[in-house]
Amino acid sequence: MNTFRFRLLLGLTVLTTVAVAAFGVFVHLTAADAVRADIDRLVQDRAFMLSKATYAGNPQLQPWMESFLESDKQRLFVQLYGIEGNLIAKSANLADPLPLSEAARRSVETSHAGHTETVTRKDGELVRLATVPVSFYRDGRQQITGFAQCAVLVRDREARLRTLRQWLVIGGVATVAAVWLVALLLLNHWLRTVDAASESAHLIGAQGRLRERLFVPPQDDELARLARTFNELLDRLEAAHTTQQRFLADASHELRTPLTVLRGEIEVALRRERTGEDYREVLQSAREEIERLSKLTENLLALARADAGEGVAAREQVDLSALCQEVARKLAGLSGLAGVTITVSAPTPAVVHGDSVALERVLANLVENALRYSPRGEGVTLTVATESGAAVVRVRDTGPGIPAEHLPHLFERFYRVDKARSREFGGAGLGLSIVEALVTAHGGKVSVASEVGQGTEFCVRLPESGRG
Ligand SMILES: Nc1ncnc2c1ncn2[C@@H]1O[C@H](COP(=O)(O)OP(=O)(O)OP(=O)(O)O)[C@@H](O)[C@H]1O
Ligand SMILES: [Mg+2]
Repeated sequence: MNTFRFRLLLGLTVLTTVAVAAFGVFVHLTAADAVRADIDRLVQDRAFMLSKATYAGNPQLQPWMESFLESDKQRLFVQLYGIEGNLIAKSANLADPLPLSEAARRSVETSHAGHTETVTRKDGELVRLATVPVSFYRDGRQQITGFAQCAVLVRDREARLRTLRQWLVIGGVATVAAVWLVALLLLNHWLRTVDAASESAHLIGAQGRLRERLFVPPQDDELARLARTFNELLDRLEAAHTTQQRFLADASHELRTPLTVLRGEIEVALRRERTGEDYREVLQSAREEIERLSKLTENLLALARADAGEGVAAREQVDLSALCQEVARKLAGLSGLAGVTITVSAPTPAVVHGDSVALERVLANLVENALRYSPRGEGVTLTVATESGAAVVRVRDTGPGIPAEHLPHLFERFYRVDKARSREFGGAGLGLSIVEALVTAHGGKVSVASEVGQGTEFCVRLPESGRG
């Protein structure tokens, strides 16, 4: 019962019924008024004609009047009263005369004009009765010599109104029924489309058929827009789903490689008796693979946390200048091994609001890349500055640079420019995607500019603390 169709139809029916009823009442009242005025005018006119056709000096019904009244005998009754209230004449269709009421008499005598009232006939029938004076002028004064009356049955008038009422009820019911029927047909048509859409949406959801799309109705109405919006949502879901699947495949592949190497080396070592030196070598190699694996899982965990909205675990005041010094100090060992020097230029503090561990990870990843991918003898410079409400850290190296076609993909997960070279350092291509995820979580932006043979510059821009 609580369906959209039911509620809409109920609302529409109630509304139409109220509107039609109000209209009907208005029409009936107006018509009743008009009919009443019409009847009154008729009896007044006839009474007036009668008064004029009567000889005023000695009121009496003229013979020709009988025929005039005869023609109308079904509807009109006429009477003539003398000034004493004595009945002079009455039409033949009136069995018992209607009495000349005191009210009519007084009203006519004082106003010298007509009087109209509703009176009850002897047989109980209601009649509308007009009384007008029969008079003549003597010495400039009006002398009333009698009363001319004309009456009509109220029943006649009621019959006309009854017919009108019947038509109003029939018309009203027909209107409500027609509105209801048309609304039902239209609704059924629309709701069929909605039902079909929700059925396909259900199938898509239940069976995970993300490739399928809803049917978009040809007419460009609300339903078509809804279907299009839903399809756009499906497009985005499908894209997200594909990305996730690719990520999973890449992650499994990256995890499998060191495991395969590990297994191969152990199997070869176990094939026959080895010397202590041989075993040490195998174990050392195994340790390298395990380090690669733990770094990879650590990076995957960092990404998963950032995806889950936990990129900023703590909110504290972090001075990026101090953090750069710290990162340079921690990576001094790697810098020494790579033969690449690190220079920090951080003249003033640049304080941001964020998670110091996450921000250290960002800077360390960028510096690590610069150290790794630059040839010996080159240098890495970290510059910290504040620019219009933002704290900016630039990590610049004078290494080989990155070809322009790779730049748009650099922050994608598992993307490496030179796979072989990256793997040499145990890189899986996650470093920069972690950088981007964490910087975005802090409300900042990271960008890259690079020229082959000249070097690369990564720029991290974070909102300065206190300014949003
Ligand atoms: N400073 C740089 N100079 C030259 N190439 C770079 C530089 N930084 C990054 N790259 C290129 O971008 C790729 C992606 O870097 P990213 O840090 O995401 O992955 P990775 O260093 O290969 O692996 P991971 O950081 O997960 O250990 C690298 O493989 C490398 O080819
Ligand atoms: Mg890296």
